[in-house]
Amino acid sequence: MTSISPPATKVWWKEPIAKGELIWISVVVVWGIILTLMMPFWHIYGEQNLSSEAYRTTPENYMEKTQAMVDQYTIRKEGERQVPVVKPPAGIDIYMVGRLWEWWPILELKKDETYRLHVASIDWQHGFSLQPTNLNVQVLPGYDMVLTVTPNKTGKHTVVCNEYCGIGHHNMLGTIYVVE
Ligand code: CUA
Repeated sequence: MTSISPPATKVWWKEPIAKGELIWISVVVVWGIILTLMMPFWHIYGEQNLSSEAYRTTPENYMEKTQAMVDQYTIRKEGERQVPVVKPPAGIDIYMVGRLWEWWPILELKKDETYRLHVASIDWQHGFSLQPTNLNVQVLPGYDMVLTVTPNKTGKHTVVCNEYCGIGHHNMLGTIYVVE
């Protein structure tokens, strides 16, 4: 019999299921249940998920808040592009802008202090990826993503863009310093 000829008996659903097929179905069902349970389990015990909040914003509104922080707390400028390095007081809301093709400005945070880090794009879809911690957030225009962060390692941390955003994507870098 080939697949194009009609089945020998029309009531195929009353035929017994082959043992091999039954085993596979059981394996799939059990594995599906395990994976479903892993979702809440991993959320609670995996320490992988961010407790992030999302709010609506506009590029103008977000840029205004970022600029106000930059104007108030810039301590120096870095590199040939003179990117401001901002050292905000602990505990406040701090802002980072994603745009073609940079994360702006540079932030300098204190170790073991908690900040509300806002991240938003003012033009296109970007991916905020903090390395080497491997903290990742999707950054969409129109949304203000807020991460409550408490840096626990000093040093220079690099922000890379992990969402393809055009010709300068691979150069879209940012910096967060963590100091004592
Ligand atoms: Cu921004 Cu890739």
